[in-house]
Amino acid sequence: MEIVETTKEQIVDPEIRDRGATSSRCAYTRHFLATEAGSEIGLLSVDLPPTEEPFVIYEIFVPTAIRRRGFGGRLLQAAEEMARSLGYKSALLVPKSLDKAFSQRALEGWYAKNGYIPLENSANGAVVKELEG
Ligand SMILES: CC(C)(COP(=O)(O)OP(=O)(O)OC[C@H]1O[C@@H](n2cnc3c(N)ncnc32)[C@H](O)[C@@H]1OP(=O)(O)O)[C@@H](O)C(=O)NCCC(=O)NCCS
Repeated sequence: MEIVETTKEQIVDPEIRDRGATSSRCAYTRHFLATEAGSEIGLLSVDLPPTEEPFVIYEIFVPTAIRRRGFGGRLLQAAEEMARSLGYKSALLVPKSLDKAFSQRALEGWYAKNGYIPLENSANGAVVKELEG
């Protein structure tokens, strides 16, 4: 899987492009396009605040036609690798399902299985993972 920073104009897949256009941004937000063997397979939207703060996984998106093939899991790993390589000690995200086929509860369970634990005193349901190494 290859992850390259992107703008929505560079995205060909209509669903990914639409997410790239809709997904909100703050000053730290960057969008990355994931490809596999030349095909677009997902979008990763992250916030890169100063490295003393957690790296924020803002959105992971895989087009509907290719879900449940492991791409989402690999995108999550790729996001964590990016965070480590940039010197972040932890990754934070707020699980929010954008597709009712993947229930909010199941999504929260998936992140928990991947090592994300509730952030203390979080008002918005944020979960955090310490990134070793
Ligand atoms: C979340 C999303 C990126 C997952 O992508 P994916 O390529 O289908 O994910 P994977 O195939 O790697 O599956 C990841 C895990 O979630 C589980 N899962 C995926 N879809 C599921 C569903 N509809 N219901 C229940 N569990 C589901 C899988 O079982 C898998 O876990 P496992 O492999 O450990 O068993 C994709 O569903 C998506 O783009 N959804 C819309 C955007 C969204 O809601 N993003 C989350 C923002 S926080």
